[in-house]
Amino acid sequence: MPSPLPENSPIATAHDRLAHFRRLAAALGPTVHRGVAQHFFLSLIKEDEALNAETIADCWRRATEKIRGGQLPGFLGLYLHIPFCPRLCTYCIYYRVRLSDPNDLDLYLARLRREIDYYAPLFQGIPFSTFYLGGGTPTLLSESQIDELLGHVRRSFAFGAGERCFETSPYTLTEAKARLFADYGFNRVSFGVQSFSLEVLQNVDRVLQKTEQVHRTIGLLQSFRFHVNCDLIHGLPGESLQTTLANLEHLLELGPTQVTTYKLSIYTPPLPGRTDAAPLPELAREAEPIARKHGYTIAVYPTAIMAVRSERNRRVEEIERRPDYRNYDDVTTEPRSLLGLGPTARSYIFGHLKYKSTAYPVAAPFAPGDKSILGRRLSLLDEKQFFLTQQLASDGRFSAVEYERYFRESVSVAFGEALKDLDKLGWLRRENDGYVLTVDDPTERFVAGLFFLDEQKIRAAWKDIADSPEKYSPDGPSDLVDRRNFLIRYRQACIPISLHRIRPGFGCFRQAGDFAFSIADEMAGNGKTAPPNEEKVLRLFGRFFELVVATAKPASLDALQEAILSRRDKLAAYGLAIQSPPDEEPPSR
Ligand SMILES: C[S@@+](CC[C@H](N)C(=O)[O-])C[C@H]1O[C@@H](n2cnc3c(N)ncnc32)[C@H](O)[C@@H]1O
Ligand code: SF4
Repeated sequence: MPSPLPENSPIATAHDRLAHFRRLAAALGPTVHRGVAQHFFLSLIKEDEALNAETIADCWRRATEKIRGGQLPGFLGLYLHIPFCPRLCTYCIYYRVRLSDPNDLDLYLARLRREIDYYAPLFQGIPFSTFYLGGGTPTLLSESQIDELLGHVRRSFAFGAGERCFETSPYTLTEAKARLFADYGFNRVSFGVQSFSLEVLQNVDRVLQKTEQVHRTIGLLQSFRFHVNCDLIHGLPGESLQTTLANLEHLLELGPTQVTTYKLSIYTPPLPGRTDAAPLPELAREAEPIARKHGYTIAVYPTAIMAVRSERNRRVEEIERRPDYRNYDDVTTEPRSLLGLGPTARSYIFGHLKYKSTAYPVAAPFAPGDKSILGRRLSLLDEKQFFLTQQLASDGRFSAVEYERYFRESVSVAFGEALKDLDKLGWLRRENDGYVLTVDDPTERFVAGLFFLDEQKIRAAWKDIADSPEKYSPDGPSDLVDRRNFLIRYRQACIPISLHRIRPGFGCFRQAGDFAFSIADEMAGNGKTAPPNEEKVLRLFGRFFELVVATAKPASLDALQEAILSRRDKLAAYGLAIQSPPDEEPPSR
């Protein structure tokens, strides 16, 4: 394994650095294509620490002092998690619990109030721009519980202009609850519809919402002039491309502000019998004429497509035009901090700490000394590098003006060497208020980002490649820790498949429990053409794989392998056959 660290091979010129970074990108293999460059480098140099609320409060104290003093940029968001649902939909990826004992709700709300009281004094004089009440199903709370919670939040925190959103579902929203949210200044609602088919809802154990109920709820929300987002899911068991499009059209006829159609997430728990979800670009193509017919436009995002009404609600538009208006947005590169309360809630203290509450039991009392939080420290340098590398990777450009506004320094002074290097190489040109890369290939954009990282991160990457070469093998993503290979045959197609054991907490495509599978070449991004039936084979094998993991509950990769082999006849029912013994290396295609 190569490890050309700077001291072994002096790197004097821009061309030397380019060669070095290209070698590093090649050695990192699939990691380069995962679009998480900065998080990856941070994970090498910073461990997740178990923290308690006292440490978190200290950190917020330091950060909010700087925000007050104008030394720390960014806006603040508040997120409260209400994890209760009337029934648990089997596809759901969020932390939620079925409300069986109403006492749990009271205990949980009491805990939330104590947490609010604990943190609120730190935010004196600093308004929150956004407020998101998510879940679970927040509107499962009674009117008096909502009133009490929102009243407590209003007394505890100050709010500026920005998005205030709550999540709701059919059958949990009443007119009185909607009025309460409007009175407390909520301007947006996210309404989960998922599907209009009773059969599909039954397949996933969701409450069997009636179509009239969905109509009534949307009408009610519109009467309060909320920005109404409705959610659908594409790929649920029993759904097809055509029924998803019909669901979308059905909603568009009701005139909400937008409809988000999620593709069934890669983190979805094993869901036997789920349908073959068409890729989002295909869904978007098919949805486009339907959207246009109803006065909507379609935008495609990595996990969903969104139909947005061209003519917006005037009240919403007026609010959104205000210069200090902010959306609740967890993918923005704009500096922001987020206080999240509740089990699994994520928080972010810009330039200091990123952390997440564990999935603690809902009735557990709040104990500031409990180490129930996992966090990773961040420096301002990490944030600057994150801003630049992220923008280069996703857009191939960044704004020097924005950088200066956020970090109160000139990017040409702070990262002068990197800019000079890229300029010498002809990789960068100035344009309007910023810089644009002249290279377009995703790996080259990643390489360009490496010029902005510090030596500690670059060294840590080489060290990790040397210490754990298997993580960077072109045969699998870097969080897959062990694997066994199969050759799967379907008619004329023959596809090498690797079974993997994955690291706890790591979610990946084609995962069930602690296991996942992949095709060797797929993750390497080596440009080979897939055999025509590959997608179909993967879908079929995926269902079989989920069933085996769910029924055999294997404790190890060997046990999984054995369970798969002993069910060859079941695999045959999918039209698939295992062609080579699992220990053999699959031939390259
Ligand atoms: C936290 S849920 C709240 C919605 C509300 N409780 C309801 O079900 O109507 C937010 C949204 O996440 C989406 N979602 C949940 N699980 C998903 C999955 N496995 N794949 C894609 N989207 C999912 C659903 O569209 C859902 O409306
Ligand atoms: S989709 Fe909504 S109702 Fe269903 S389990 Fe998830 S949060 Fe609860």
